[in-house]
Amino acid sequence: MESILVTGGAGFIGSHTCLSLIKKGYCLYVLDSFVNSSKLSISNVIKILEIDGLDATEFIDIVKGDIRNKSTIRDLFLKSIADKKPIKSVIHFAGLKSVAESVRNPSIYWDTNLISSLNLIEVMLEFDCLTIVFSSSATVYGLDNKSPIKENGKLNPNNPYGNTKLAIEKLFNDFFQSNKKKLKIANLRYFNPVGAHPSGFIGEDPKGIPNNIFPVIAKVAIGIQKKLNVFGNDWPTVDGTGIRDYIHVMDLAEGHIRMLEFLENNESQIVTLNLGTGIGTSVLQLINTYEKVNNIKIPFQFVHRRSGDVSELVADSSFAKKLINWAPNKDLKDMCKDSFNWQLKNPYGFNGPQNN
Ligand code: NAD
Ligand code: UFG
Repeated sequence: MESILVTGGAGFIGSHTCLSLIKKGYCLYVLDSFVNSSKLSISNVIKILEIDGLDATEFIDIVKGDIRNKSTIRDLFLKSIADKKPIKSVIHFAGLKSVAESVRNPSIYWDTNLISSLNLIEVMLEFDCLTIVFSSSATVYGLDNKSPIKENGKLNPNNPYGNTKLAIEKLFNDFFQSNKKKLKIANLRYFNPVGAHPSGFIGEDPKGIPNNIFPVIAKVAIGIQKKLNVFGNDWPTVDGTGIRDYIHVMDLAEGHIRMLEFLENNESQIVTLNLGTGIGTSVLQLINTYEKVNNIKIPFQFVHRRSGDVSELVADSSFAKKLINWAPNKDLKDMCKDSFNWQLKNPYGFNGPQNN
C-alpha cells in the first residue's frame, strides 16, 4: 500500500482533509508539531469515521515533529518504507498563518513557512516522491486587484505571511523548472476557509485570541466574547463593510482530493488554482445569516478599519471547475450552522478553557 504525507494535518483545514482522504480509502502519515493544533483533532477524525463504521486507526499514523528539521522529514519517509506504506505524494498544510504575528515576527514566518517547504521538496526528491499539493493563499494577490480575481491577477502581498506564501510558490516553480519531466505540483490559493464538519467533532480552534471573523463570531454567539468589532463601515461596498469569499472547509477538503487525483492521473506539471465560491459576502450580511440560521443575536459595534484590510476579496474559481471539476456544494448558511454547532459543542475548543 502507498501513502500520503499530510504536513500540518492536525490543523483546521488539515484535519477536515484527512477525514475526507481516509473516507476515500487513502492511507496517511500526519506530521505536525501541534504548535497551533491539538492531537485530539485527529482522535476526533477517527471517532467520526468510527461512527460511520470504519476503523481508521490502520489508515492514519500521527508523528509529532517539526517540519523545519530535514532529518524529521527524512525519518518519516524512511519509516513509511519500513512500514511498507511508502509516501507517494504530499499535501503540505504545515505553516504559520497569522498576518498580524507575521508583521511582529517575520523571522519565524520565513523560517517556518519557507525553510520547511525547501526541506520538504528536497527530501521528496531524495525519495523520488514527486507530487505535492501546497496550501497557498489569496493573500498573495495583495491590495491591487479587482474582484473576482483570476489566477493571473497581480501578485503583491502586503504582509510577511503573504510574502512567504508567494516565495514558496516561486520556490516550487524553480524546482519544477529544473525537474520538468518529474514533478507534479499544485498551489491552491484558498480564499476564506470557514465552517466545520457537521458532526461538531472537528472545527477551527485557534490558539490564543482569534483574529478571523468566524472564530470571533462563534465566540460572541455563545457569549464567551461580548461583541464583535466590525472593522469599518465606510468601505466602498453595498453596506460599507468588507466583502470576502467564505468557503466551507469540507468543500476545500474535497478540492484537495480532486487536485491530488488530477495530478496523479496527468503528466508532470505545475498548476495554480483559486479555491473559493465566487460569492462575496459583507460582514453585515454574514452577521445577518449567522443570526437567522442559528436563531441567535450577534451584538456588534463598528470600529475603525483594520490596517492592511482590503475592501473586497472574491475568487474567480472557474479554472478549478474547468481543470478538476470542483465546485463548492455548501453555502453560507451551512458555514454559519456548522460553525455554531462546533462552538456550542466545544466552547473552548479541543482542550478546554486553558487553551484560550
Ligand atoms: P492551522 O494552524 O490550523 O494548521 C497548520 C498546522 O501546521 C497546525 O496543526 C500546526 O500545528 C502545524 N505546524 C505549524 N508549524 C509547524 C512546523 N514547524 N512543523 C510541523 N507542523 C507545524 O491552519 P489552517 O487554517 O489549517 O491552514 C493550513 C494551511 O493553509 C496553512 O499553510 C495556511 O497558511 C494556509 N491557509 C489558511 C487559510 C485560513 O484562513 N485558514 C487561508 C489561506 C491559506
Ligand atoms: N472582520 C471584522 N471583525 C473581526 C474580524 C474580521 O469586521 O473581528 C472583517 C475584516 O475586516 C474582513 C472580514 O471580516 O472584512 C474577514 O476578515 P478575516 O480576518 O476573517 O479574513 P481576511 O480576509 O482578512 O484574511 C484571511 C486570512 C488570511 C488570508 C486571507 C485570504 O486571515 O491569512 O483570508 O485567504 F490570507
